[in-house]
Amino acid sequence: MPFQPDRLSVPLVQAPMAGGASTPELAAAVSEVGGLGFLAAGYRTAQGMREQIVRTRELTGGPFGVNLFVPGPPAPSSAGAVATYREELLADAAEYGITLPVPTDEGDDDEWDEKVDVLVREPVPVVSFTFGLPGASVVEALHRAGSQLIGTATTVAEAEAAEAIGVDALCLQGPDAGGHRATHDAGAEPSDLPLPDLLAAVRERVRIPLIAAGGLGTGEDIAAVLAAGAVAAQLGTVYLRTHESGASRTHQDALVDPRFTETVVTRAFSGRPARGLRNRFIDAHDATAPDAYPQVHHLTKGLRAAAAKSGDAERLHLWAGSRHRLARAVPAAALTRDLWEETRAGAR
Ligand SMILES: Cc1cc2nc3c(=O)[nH]c(=O)nc-3n(C[C@H](O)[C@H](O)[C@H](O)COP(=O)(O)O)c2cc1C
Repeated sequence: MPFQPDRLSVPLVQAPMAGGASTPELAAAVSEVGGLGFLAAGYRTAQGMREQIVRTRELTGGPFGVNLFVPGPPAPSSAGAVATYREELLADAAEYGITLPVPTDEGDDDEWDEKVDVLVREPVPVVSFTFGLPGASVVEALHRAGSQLIGTATTVAEAEAAEAIGVDALCLQGPDAGGHRATHDAGAEPSDLPLPDLLAAVRERVRIPLIAAGGLGTGEDIAAVLAAGAVAAQLGTVYLRTHESGASRTHQDALVDPRFTETVVTRAFSGRPARGLRNRFIDAHDATAPDAYPQVHHLTKGLRAAAAKSGDAERLHLWAGSRHRLARAVPAAALTRDLWEETRAGAR
């Protein structure tokens, strides 16, 4: 019997978090207590993804998922805008004594075909997608391999498109979510429809099970989305400080540092809208950052690595949802159990 997203014994999904935060240990810890843990394949090679899958299987016999970035077309004629942005960032790069790559107009397929091949040959229980939807042949191949598929949507139109392509469930990402908005069109302004309204609107139009994400941090938050018809709640930011998280120390500390007082959505780090703690890099560059993903991601990659190395929270992309202060430095299994206990206690 294939894994059913609406039959989790603990209806909590640990959000896939690319860039290092998602680890096999984190995914396995959540799956071991009855939730659904996720690996994030974005920014990883197909081989790196495969190694994480093998390791996760060693740690748990429970179901887990792998999340893929769906490649989109490169932003139209972005080279000029990215070159101008590069000039602007040279002073930041000079602070670390590094150079910045010269932008090209090439797209980035993130080894999409290779990753799909691995997942077809060595299937995992769940595959989810962000930034868009796979083609019909990929849906068919992964289904034939036995995986359940989850699309991600931020609007009713994206949800309808996901159902039409044949995914089995849908993650609805509201505007308070940490990290990249899942918006399918990288150039479009992300929707600011609050999660409860998005959930209600999508329930009217779509029949597949819905998983709610974005700004959830307490049992009360989780109970509210379950009462509104979601089959599970997906949480990312609150897992960033767990013992199994791979997020950098600088990132983990910043989430609860009183000097960071708000989160904002910015294209400054990657060219795609993403929510993070507002810092000096965002203040300096948000207004001028072009909507060119993944070109801006590649442009700032070295800069962000240097910031991480020197513990410079003012130039690092500190992805965080609105509930970042609730991120707890505890084992992920304990966090999952506590959240579910709080959810049930509130519902009693
Ligand atoms: C550090 C970080 C990295 C993320 N990376 C991914 C990713 O690789 N794929 C994805 O579908 N969502 C990603 N997300 C978004 C989550 O799936 C989810 O929508 C979000 O964490 C929910 O909001 P919350 O952070 O307020 O709980 C990321 C979120 C964070 C905080």
